[in-house]
Amino acid sequence: MSTSRIIAIDGPAGAGKTTIARALAQRLGLQYLDTGAMYRAVTVAALRRGVATTDVDAVGLLAQNLSIDVSDAGVYTDGDDVTVAIRSAEVNAAVSAVAANSAVRQVLRSRQRAWGDERGCGVIEGRDIGSVVFPDAILKVYLTASPRVRAERRVAQAGGDVDEIEAAIALRDGSDSSRVDSPLVQADGSVMVDTTGLGIDEVLKRIEGFLEQR
Ligand code: DC
Repeated sequence: MSTSRIIAIDGPAGAGKTTIARALAQRLGLQYLDTGAMYRAVTVAALRRGVATTDVDAVGLLAQNLSIDVSDAGVYTDGDDVTVAIRSAEVNAAVSAVAANSAVRQVLRSRQRAWGDERGCGVIEGRDIGSVVFPDAILKVYLTASPRVRAERRVAQAGGDVDEIEAAIALRDGSDSSRVDSPLVQADGSVMVDTTGLGIDEVLKRIEGFLEQR
């Protein structure tokens, strides 16, 4: 596997992964993959087809047969544009069950590895990229921030009540961290960056500093 030039960005919801991973990829001239969008895309397909997201076998089969295209141009499943649909409240509520499904994880993990192996480099964002998908990535970053700040960022992006969003984030963190298959953990050999109180440029500067040391 030619995984050495993969940069893995993991961490809980609202830690700043998407903003940072996108900006880092742009600065380094690399491609970027949002693996959360892949779990969300399977969730949208299940909801639209009337497949219960808790039906492990049916959702696993659905993922296996679903074409998922995630790029800067948007997110498509079997040719349908689901770029907006994957961010709905309904999907936010259902995606953790889909992400806990081992059959789904197996399918998506192998597609994520294929993405990295085809390019030989890139910035990949998720929960298990440094721990499971690309454990030999050249740099593994675990981004985090206080729950309050993470909720405030979500409110700034999409509105809503900060207390309710903080509670929803806590629920999703709990389920992402406690699932049996590839729980959210800080990967061995990763560097932690707490983005509470840090601006985007400062976070990028720190990550580029770690990269220079590799
Ligand atoms: O990063 P996000 O909020 O778009 O992720 C959506 C869900 O998918 C969230 O519950 C975490 C899960 N996920 C995962 O389990 N593994 C990944 N590599 C990426 C996301």
